[in-house]
Amino acid sequence: MCGIIGYIGDRNAVPILIEGLKRLEYRGYDSAGIGLIRRKRLDVHKKEGKIASLESALPEKLSGKPGIAHTRWATHGGVNDTNAHPQVSSDGKVAVVHNGIIDNYCKLKKKLLKEGFGFQSETDTEVISNLVASNYNGDPEEAVQKSISQLEGTYGLVFLFTDHPDLLVGARNGSPLIVGVGDKEMLLASDVNAIVAHTRQIFHIEDRETVFLDKRSYKTINTKNSVVAKEIEQVDLELAEIEKGDFPHFMLKEIFEQPDAVVRSFGGGGRLLPDFGTAKLGGLNIEKQEFFDINRIVTIGMGTAYYAAMIGAHLLENMARLPATAEQAAELRYRNVIVHKDALFFAVSQSGETLDTLAAMREIQNRGGRVLGICNAAGSTIARESDGGVFIHAGPEISVASTKAFTSQITVFLLLALMIGRMKNIPVSLGKNYIDELWAIPDKIHRILDRCEEIRQLADKYRSSNHFLFMARGINYPVALEGALKLKEISYIHAEGFSAGDFKHGPIALVSEETPALFIAVKGETFEKVLGNMEEIKARKGRIITIANVDDERLRELSDDLFLVPETDELLSPLLTVIPLQLFAYYTAVALKKDVDQPRNLAKTVTVE
Ligand code: M6R
Repeated sequence: MCGIIGYIGDRNAVPILIEGLKRLEYRGYDSAGIGLIRRKRLDVHKKEGKIASLESALPEKLSGKPGIAHTRWATHGGVNDTNAHPQVSSDGKVAVVHNGIIDNYCKLKKKLLKEGFGFQSETDTEVISNLVASNYNGDPEEAVQKSISQLEGTYGLVFLFTDHPDLLVGARNGSPLIVGVGDKEMLLASDVNAIVAHTRQIFHIEDRETVFLDKRSYKTINTKNSVVAKEIEQVDLELAEIEKGDFPHFMLKEIFEQPDAVVRSFGGGGRLLPDFGTAKLGGLNIEKQEFFDINRIVTIGMGTAYYAAMIGAHLLENMARLPATAEQAAELRYRNVIVHKDALFFAVSQSGETLDTLAAMREIQNRGGRVLGICNAAGSTIARESDGGVFIHAGPEISVASTKAFTSQITVFLLLALMIGRMKNIPVSLGKNYIDELWAIPDKIHRILDRCEEIRQLADKYRSSNHFLFMARGINYPVALEGALKLKEISYIHAEGFSAGDFKHGPIALVSEETPALFIAVKGETFEKVLGNMEEIKARKGRIITIANVDDERLRELSDDLFLVPETDELLSPLLTVIPLQLFAYYTAVALKKDVDQPRNLAKTVTVE
């Protein structure tokens, strides 16, 4: 989604802003722009397309300060230079970059047109620059505060005022904004990645706060104009973590990081109590005894995080013997949802900023429910606003396609289910077995990754198929959904995931020689059933690719291609079965020459509805 960076200090803002924009590229965007104060005037450059296009359109040796810059992911108005940000007021006094959506922009636009302000773009953002200009009588603080009280919707904003070349202003409601405090310089950004090369000292702007920065100091105020004290945090992030290193794409790097990420998710053992066959998780903010009063669990998320939430619900039901269901946050949010007092909710989100998940969490909390976060990004809104939770510690995930966050989210759910399950029905010996199985997972993932060439060849063989069916049952059903999502999002091949059990109730009509079916078949409860479902496809001349963890003769006969992953307990099997699916999607997209890390139309963090 859109990205923001602003700089105030003694250095030329241009290289800092351009480098910051490049570090925001992963979020997904379709145009970019930069605005500077130069010789007491605003100088704005905007370009549709990649940052490289903007860079090459900039005049040579361009310099200026302070400056603001933006990557835009179009919502209101088409993708073109004019609609890119910054948007400048028609009197030339105010420039703004904006993440989010202004709901009442039409009404405000009518009013501003009557006042004589002109509009060039189709964006809701231009309303903001004109509104601030209309409220401006020489005092930026008064103008911004008055204007944001008139805005309805979500925003992360950074302003430049032509009359105040020593000032950078930020405001937030619903879209993240972070201040970086440097040595005689300040940065404002939507994402810590954009500023970490310059400073690791940061603080967060909260909703309905406005921040005023000069190169040496900051002042944050709320809507009542009271000053809000801010505590500076030290960001624990190495640049190498947000760079590709020797990998051709972030996605491949992140797929290969999974053995380490899973280890970090179980705290390198620190979250495990092997002698007692259980797990311990700090940060839950729930006394252990309170778990006896919880009688139902609802896990929520979107996209890949939702599929992890489905697996989480399965694990909690199976191991912790609690009725557990998963829901798409975007749907739950608009239902007249019933929040039982004995229910516990989990909001799953890599970024911790997904608006659908955040809004659903707030809705549940408003109805008195308790929501724990399962997040990757520390300091994110869901992590901060949840009633407790567990960080997955997967490390920064840059590629739009989520991979290591998925396996880490599952790992954390396993720990939770084990911890609660051990309090109830899981005997110590079984708990120890789960821990042994979990310890063995990183090495088993390595063994799959070592065979990535086999998957590359498989992807090459099937790359010209226009449709794919992904099927599984039980705990691997969400993995089938995830495999289909991975393939469609980065290769643009139409792929759908199904419960293999439900398939014959309609979707079987899709089977043909041209539409390969990818099955996940693991040893356990539903193995024989999956074999039966494969027979149904074969009988209709469908081609079958199978990911399995058991070398079975019938399975071999039914499969046109078979990839065996190491064996593990069925409940842990998604941690292994998903790896070949991630690699399959990756190599297919590479074979088809797609933009793997920044697929079309997509954003890493979806902060709009
Ligand atoms: O940051 P989140 O985990 O909340 O993101 C949720 C989804 O937008 C995300 O998982 C999306 O589906 C991925 N692009 C899938 O690869």
